[in-house]
This record gives sequence, structure tokens and C-alpha cells, in this order.
Amino acid sequence: MIIKTAKYLVSSPDYTMCPKPDRPEYAFIGRSNVGKSSLINMLSDNQKLAKTSGSPGKTQLINHFEMESLPDKYVPGKTPASPWYLVDLPGYGFAKVSQTQRKQWETMIENYLRKRETLVNIFVLIDSRHEPQRVDLDFINQLGEWELPFCIVFTKADKETQKEVSKNVKSFLDAMRKTWQFLPQSFVTSAIKKMGRDKILQFIEQCNVSVKEAGKE
Ligand code: GTP
Ligand code: MG
Repeated sequence: MIIKTAKYLVSSPDYTMCPKPDRPEYAFIGRSNVGKSSLINMLSDNQKLAKTSGSPGKTQLINHFEMESLPDKYVPGKTPASPWYLVDLPGYGFAKVSQTQRKQWETMIENYLRKRETLVNIFVLIDSRHEPQRVDLDFINQLGEWELPFCIVFTKADKETQKEVSKNVKSFLDAMRKTWQFLPQSFVTSAIKKMGRDKILQFIEQCNVSVKEAGKE
């Protein structure tokens, strides 16, 4: 997939205020500081698109980015660009928030994830430097209860040795096997090395094609 356009559109405090649901949408979520905004910038090849930060809790609203992409083999002037939305969501598990704020986050995220009709897939980001964390497994199990489609994206793979990353990826997937019969698709990424970019974009492209096909039936 070739990204033709990547533009920030709007930040919404609630799913009802999100843009008109007229195209496939992909959301990125994970623990605060896991690298959601950096991954979005890496995928869109624009370092300035989503605001990144060293201090957790930077992203607080539902942020829509307007995307237009072309397939790898496209005919210039003939192949139409496919429109889709990319969504940067605020992170969970940020220690320095009040109960009230946490509850607000939970309500906003649950409503968005469960009610946004055009949401095709949720990318759940997991920091590849750590052992499996309860908060991540709980969030994933919650998605399962809600029967929502998701993939796992391991981030910051450049920060540790390949051996350490593989070990953490394996432990995480093993922890999931305790409650999941089938594992979702997973990707190992580095925003710095642009690792995993092609695979994620290819996945989105395939989903976009399936959505289009389903719409024709
Ligand atoms: P919140 O919006 O606060 O929840 O954070 P976020 O998940 O959007 O994280 P963000 O992309 O802002 O990144 C957090 C920090 O991790 C920043 O200092 C990034 O530069 C760093 N970071 C993110 N991805 C990578 C990566 O792949 N490799 C390395 N080395 N650093 C990364
Ligand atoms: Mg962010």
C-alpha cells in the first residue's frame, strides 16, 4: 500500500461527535506511552502528523486522521485512491489520573469501540520491552468479551536485543493462550527503524478490499 495523503482531521471527546462514518476505520490503542502516535507517524511517513511525547497521557481525545492510499501496483491516473480513517486513541493504564478521569476514559473508549459502525480493526499496542502486563491482557480480554476484531502490535523493537524482543513476544502470546483458543494476527514494529510498516499497511489494504467487496453484495 502506498500512502497518498495523511491529514489530521478532528479530535472528538465522544463517539457521537466523530466524523460521518462513511469509510473503513482503524483504531490504535494501548498503554500510555507505548508508542501509538509514533507508530501512526511511521505508518503515514509523516513525523509531524500525531503529537508524540516523552511524558505519558499526551493523547486525550479520539483523533481522526484522513487517509488516502493506493495499491502497490496502481495505474497512474486510473486507479482510484481508497479513503479510510486512522484513529489515535488515548492510552490506558496511566497512573497519574483520578478515578473520575479513568471512568470517563473507559466510557468514551467503550462507546467508541462498540458503537462506531465503520470500525474495521483495532490495533492493540504492546511494549516489546516488557514481560506480559496484566493491564494489557485485561484490555484484550475485554475486547474478546465485546467480540471486537483486533491485532497485536509489539512496539519499540529497536530498544532491546532481538532475542529479548522475541522472548517477550512469545511470553505475551503464551499468556494470551491461557484464555484464547486462537491468537490474533501480530506484528513486531519499530517506529525508528520503520520495522513492520509494510506488513501493517498490507493488512489494512486487504481489509479495505474486503470492506469494498462486502459493500457490493
Ligand atoms: P500517549 O499518547 O501519551 O498515550 O503516548 P503514545 O502511546 O502515543 O506514545 P508516543 O508515540 O508519544 O511515544 C512515547 C515515547 O516513546 C516517545 O518518547 C517516543 O519517541 C518513544 N517511542 C515510540 N515508539 C518508539 C520506537 O519504536 N522506538 C523507540 N526507540 N522509541 C519509541
Ligand atoms: Mg499519543
